[in-house]
Amino acid sequence: MWNDRYAGDDYLFGTEPAAFLTRVTGLLPVAGRALAVADGEGRNSVWMAAQGLAVTAFDPAPNAVAKARRLAQARGVAVDFHVADLEGWDWSRQFDVVAGIFIQFAPPAERAVLFQRLAGALVPGGLLLLHGYAPRQVGYGTGGPPREENMYTLDLLRASFAGWAVLLAQDYDADVDEGRGHSGRSALVDFVARKPG
Ligand SMILES: C[S@@+](CC[C@H](N)C(=O)[O-])C[C@H]1O[C@@H](n2cnc3c(N)ncnc32)[C@H](O)[C@@H]1O
Repeated sequence: MWNDRYAGDDYLFGTEPAAFLTRVTGLLPVAGRALAVADGEGRNSVWMAAQGLAVTAFDPAPNAVAKARRLAQARGVAVDFHVADLEGWDWSRQFDVVAGIFIQFAPPAERAVLFQRLAGALVPGGLLLLHGYAPRQVGYGTGGPPREENMYTLDLLRASFAGWAVLLAQDYDADVDEGRGHSGRSALVDFVARKPG
């Protein structure tokens, strides 16, 4: 399904990073290894690489990864792209930054496993970046799956990463203009936390 959505030449979510990333630029390390999970067409991984991070990215949609490679080339940055889904990824690899941006395809049980994997993929002291929709987004219908249970609340995120230093936790409404995939008034959640250790 996702690969079909990415079939055209245009970029479904645009070629600029999620606005969230530009909001948290000041929290990112100036160097280090970053992983972009379910990275789609590369807008976020390419932007992080342009900030000086050594970025690895994966997504299961070959059409998306092909466009991501083209975007990286056009921007003159190197990203280590892989075609893989959550089950195929090598979660033993560790990074200084892990970014999960609009990865709400996972229902609660799957999400719990995913969050454990994200945590395990960070070195001690590493930075987790999560950005997605709040449950009321289902009423807006401007992006994301039509399932409230897949969405984030700040309570859910704080509980999932208990003991971590939370650097940013916000639930807010904003106008989003990120390609035809994410467009219009949206209910958003930003979460940035540092792994203990
Ligand atoms: C809403 S898009 C977001 C893409 C990208 N993170 C962005 O912000 O532009 C969700 C992405 O999740 C990917 N995806 C769906 N199911 C997946 C799975 N089981 N494992 C890994 N990625 C998956 C899709 O291919 C799609 O690119």
